[in-house]
Amino acid sequence: MQLTDQEFQLIRNLVYKNFGINLGEKKRNLIIARLQKVLLAGGFSSFGRYYEHVIQDTSGRALLTLVDKISTNHTYFFREKDHFDFLKTRILPNLKKEYKGAWRKVRIWSAGCSTGEEPYTLAMVLSEYFRAYPAGIDVAILATDISVTALRAAVRGIYPAAKMAPVPMTYRQRHFSPLKDGNWAVKQNLKDMVLFRRLNLMSRRFQFKGLFQVIFCRNVMIYFDRATQKELIARFHRYTEPGGYLIIGHSETIDRESGLYKYIKPSVYQKV
Ligand SMILES: C[S@@+](CC[C@H](N)C(=O)[O-])C[C@H]1O[C@@H](n2cnc3c(N)ncnc32)[C@H](O)[C@@H]1O
Repeated sequence: MQLTDQEFQLIRNLVYKNFGINLGEKKRNLIIARLQKVLLAGGFSSFGRYYEHVIQDTSGRALLTLVDKISTNHTYFFREKDHFDFLKTRILPNLKKEYKGAWRKVRIWSAGCSTGEEPYTLAMVLSEYFRAYPAGIDVAILATDISVTALRAAVRGIYPAAKMAPVPMTYRQRHFSPLKDGNWAVKQNLKDMVLFRRLNLMSRRFQFKGLFQVIFCRNVMIYFDRATQKELIARFHRYTEPGGYLIIGHSETIDRESGLYKYIKPSVYQKV
């Protein structure tokens, strides 16, 4: 099906306005490829007709399907592993010192968690770190994404063997159960550490009760333009505990001039 310039602009503006995702000219073919099936299934004769349907759907469901198709959900366990090493060797020991050994609740947010590999990696790392504290540490990992399909997979927590390669054997044995069909299922104790929620990072306000010691927002802002990134970082800042961290993807940078976060090392920032 043909996507006219005007239709491309309409869809592009709609996605940008609602989700901050900046679809450049290069993404034209991506839109055609990913929405083709939706158009066929819905019996729409053109992208224009489909667009009309999306904006007229007051339930918001059509818009969610659209972003579901457009968003890129690529992720894997232990992606950018040095972030998890930094968590283990720098952030957690510092928190311990700060709390004088009397742990308070550890709250971490995985913003743009996709199919769950990032928050489950966090859960594994935290669970291993706190094995030495038999009294049990209160750990809460909030994992949010806009994609309903990605979140459904995350909540299910079943991964094919090919996705398990980066998970160290001891972690695999402790935190996953092998299934008869060759897949691996996340064990309940790990699942219990993570709360999955649908959340649009473009929402003006996040309804969180407390602050986070660490926010992971990796490989998400890459899809946003500078202005959107800046606004989002200011919002992240409001929900970071003083001295807490914002961790972004290695291919991303944030504006150091804003003075909100101090640069620690590539992709790691601390609230000042
Ligand atoms: C490439 S994945 C990154 C997953 C993981 N953080 C990682 O680094 O492996 C990007 C995720 O950002 C989500 N996303 C994009 N725009 C969003 C928005 N406005 N609100 C919430 N999530 C969004 C997508 O649905 C997708 O799952």
